[in-house]
Amino acid sequence: MAFNFTVTPPLSLYIHIPWCVRKCPYCDFNSHEVRGDIPEQAYVDALLADLEQDLPLAWGRTVETVFIGGGTPSLFSPTGIEQLLNGVRACLPLKPGAEITLEANPGTVDYTRFAGFREAGVNRLSLGIQSFDPVMLEQIGRIHDGQEALAAIDAARSAGFDNINLDLMFGLPGQDTGLALTDLQTAIDHAPEHLSWYELTIEPNTWFYRHPPKRADDAGLWEMQQRGNNLLQAACYRRYEVSAWSRPGRPCQHNLNYWEFGDYLGIGAGAHGKLTDAAEQHITRRSKTRHPRHYLELAGTERLIDTTHVLAADDVVFEYAMNALRLDGGFTAAAFRAATGLPYSTIEPTIATSLESGLLAVDDDRIHTTPRGQRYLDELLQNFVPETANHARAS
Ligand SMILES: C[S@@+](CC[C@H](N)C(=O)[O-])C[C@H]1O[C@@H](n2cnc3c(N)ncnc32)[C@H](O)[C@@H]1O
Ligand code: SF4
Repeated sequence: MAFNFTVTPPLSLYIHIPWCVRKCPYCDFNSHEVRGDIPEQAYVDALLADLEQDLPLAWGRTVETVFIGGGTPSLFSPTGIEQLLNGVRACLPLKPGAEITLEANPGTVDYTRFAGFREAGVNRLSLGIQSFDPVMLEQIGRIHDGQEALAAIDAARSAGFDNINLDLMFGLPGQDTGLALTDLQTAIDHAPEHLSWYELTIEPNTWFYRHPPKRADDAGLWEMQQRGNNLLQAACYRRYEVSAWSRPGRPCQHNLNYWEFGDYLGIGAGAHGKLTDAAEQHITRRSKTRHPRHYLELAGTERLIDTTHVLAADDVVFEYAMNALRLDGGFTAAAFRAATGLPYSTIEPTIATSLESGLLAVDDDRIHTTPRGQRYLDELLQNFVPETANHARAS
């Protein structure tokens, strides 16, 4: 199957900061407990060297969104973030008014720090609240209590942030539907522009995986989710992705670009990038070395790049489906062609099968999941797994 890219998709920039005060027992992100001082200056220098090395992948293109994630980026000083963003601007053109998000842990912030981030150019904050309940927060090993979570929201508003996301999780150890809905209502009462409402998943390589906590069963989790969805809808939040809810016009542009299979540069320890090359007619994925110590040692050398590979057409189809079908609005045939460089006929038979089985539907040219397709998303995605992978699995 040959690619035919006529344009390159929008470009984003992800910046990973890999340190946290303490490792949470449920977390499998590339995050490491801080021991001693964070080598902030050395890491900012390493990030900018990393970006410079990636620049040939993005010549002449404009960055539309920036996301500083972690780990806990709010452990960095406003001066460090300012230096980082100035360095980024010196390397690449940023779209005027580009969304620039920074993730913050309520246990690491105050008004002055938020005001400094705002001054540095950050215009969207994502606060890792998880819960407001003191018992829940303790169960999941958070470094902050409910009062600090509320204080962080107030401090963010006072510092001038008018685009705030709150991360909340449900299905926490010992949490019933009532407690989950109380958390959600408290979040709604603070009127964030965006709410990410995640079901806690137990990931391999975490403390919770080795010591599974007692949680609601599948039926209980389903009830929590349905009643939470109703609460969010009644409060005028619109769901646009499996776990993402926003006020009208306020979805996260950066994450939307991932789900629409846009391009992104990824800098920082363990960061991933995906870039379309219209001249070479291919998509490349690249990742950086994961451990912060190695990352700092290897900055400025080619050994910083851990993996690079060019995607085969089959993988592009699967990856596209895996992202776009998370969106409530799904995708159009034209969007598929533009982002993958492949003819729509590539997936037409798979779409037809999924329409027949009631996992997908079409409205106004948009192919999207049905409620059943959302519930059985993994089953639906199996239809998009390349034949070769299915054969390999069967043999
Ligand atoms: C990188 S963290 C956010 C910033 C900061 N590190 C913090 O925790 O406050 C991204 C978000 O992913 C969610 N998350 C992390 N691990 C999860 C898991 N196992 N299940 C569900 N959500 C999870 C949490 O809501 C978390 O806020
Ligand atoms: S603070 Fe965030 S990134 Fe760090 S360990 Fe906890 S959930 Fe993971």
